[in-house]
Amino acid sequence: MSNKFYITTPIYYVNDKPHIGHAYTTILADVLSRFHRNSGSEVFFLTGLDEHGQKVQQAAESRNVSPQEHCDEFALRFLQLWEKLEIKYDDFIRTTQDRHIKVVQAVLQKVYDDGDIYQSEYEGWYSVAEERFITETEMKSGEFRDVKSIKEKNWFFKMSKYQKPLIEHIEANPDYIQPKHRRNEIMGFLKQPLGDLCISRPKSRMNWGIDLPFDKAYVTYVWWDALINYITAPGYNVDEENFSKWWPAEYHLIGKDILTTHAVYWSTMLLSMGMPLPKAIFAHGWWLTGDTKMSKSLGNIVNPLDLVGEYGVDSVRYYLMREMVLGQDANYNFESFVKRYNSDLANDFGNLLNRVSGLINKYFDGYIPAAHEVTDAEKVVQDIGTGLADKVNGLIERMRVHEAIEEVMILIRQVNKYLEQQAPWKVAKTDLPAAGRILYTATEALRLSAVLLSPVMPGKTNKVLDILGAHGTGEKWGELAPENKLKAHEALFPRLETE
Ligand code: MSP
Repeated sequence: MSNKFYITTPIYYVNDKPHIGHAYTTILADVLSRFHRNSGSEVFFLTGLDEHGQKVQQAAESRNVSPQEHCDEFALRFLQLWEKLEIKYDDFIRTTQDRHIKVVQAVLQKVYDDGDIYQSEYEGWYSVAEERFITETEMKSGEFRDVKSIKEKNWFFKMSKYQKPLIEHIEANPDYIQPKHRRNEIMGFLKQPLGDLCISRPKSRMNWGIDLPFDKAYVTYVWWDALINYITAPGYNVDEENFSKWWPAEYHLIGKDILTTHAVYWSTMLLSMGMPLPKAIFAHGWWLTGDTKMSKSLGNIVNPLDLVGEYGVDSVRYYLMREMVLGQDANYNFESFVKRYNSDLANDFGNLLNRVSGLINKYFDGYIPAAHEVTDAEKVVQDIGTGLADKVNGLIERMRVHEAIEEVMILIRQVNKYLEQQAPWKVAKTDLPAAGRILYTATEALRLSAVLLSPVMPGKTNKVLDILGAHGTGEKWGELAPENKLKAHEALFPRLETE
């Protein structure tokens, strides 16, 4: 893997409690960061909050608090959730922070000085709910609520000027927008002439935002403000050394509904600033229940985040990462959670730990035996183990997270089978060294699996490494030291009985 890895999540609106949409992307970014850290990259993982704009202002008004008070309270909820979900971010940005306001104003001033921002009178339909001007066709579609006709002077960014350079960039960089079907969607969108982007809101209408540096009667449009967070955090315009170390980002992770703002608005903003574009924008699908997007307030659905308290953060992280094919939608239901938990975590992974520790306690007094020789049967397991880290990391590089996890599960299942075939509990009665060889091999496979699954389940895998006395061991086969004494433990993932 490359030496530096800068990954971002969207910054989340604080008008709502954190929900599965926020949690999923953030866990995904955390998992990818941990994989990259484990294989030696220097990682910068950025997440944060989008605190300006009309939605937040309205949410604060409805609670009778000032917008800043509202933001501070909600920020706490997000921070608490990230702690509960074991999110190890490197920076947490809030758009109301001074560092960000300064950068947004510097960018605006630069783009203005370069002649890419102009003022014009605009008359058209405005969707209050979506917080943007909509076209005549969109208006007629009837899909927009709270629409009103607005005639006002505003400031515009010459987005149209960068349509051609953007198309050329996407063509020259096939991985810029991932997965491929999202890239095609954007290329399709760019076949129509691209309009300019209204980047201001008159304070008379909405004042919860960042002042335009060249016209104090206006605040900055919330998306223009928010997207800039990706360069504020590494130090744009403030810490050139740190900034050039991290920018461009390797990945902007986003949900599919905010692709246009990233692939088109953000890209053209950067083109205007003469800055390198991120290496990739990756849009994942939605978690659905039935046909419905889960973050909509449904009231009756079981929120996967509610499972954390009862079943533990690791099993929820595992479920979300294993179940969604990145780029496609996935369906959440409690039955599929229980099924995954019982088959992969209780029966396969947890059971492997129980078996090896039970047998090592019984026949070796709890001391991990050595493997003095290997036979063909061990060779089969060893061969899988030896190539596994490269395979897993290769899949992670290609954003195939669920397949990377499955590769580790294949080893675990193979070892459970190997134990059944070799029956060390029988062998031990006549040939103790042979039983030792079998148990060392199985325990080493368990250790390696724990190391490779640690980005997904940091807590439980840490527990396994602790039991084995294998903290700090790496991704190569054979790093388990014999002669360590196993620590006592309880079942890693007790089986769930649903009745
Ligand atoms: N503030 C903007 C992002 C600005 S980034 C510069 C925003 N915030 S949000 O709070 O609405 O975040 C929503 C994120 O959650 C999006 O990435 C969206 O795709 C994701 N999800 C919302 N519901 C979802 C599901 N049901 N499933 C998966 N992700 C979904 O947009």
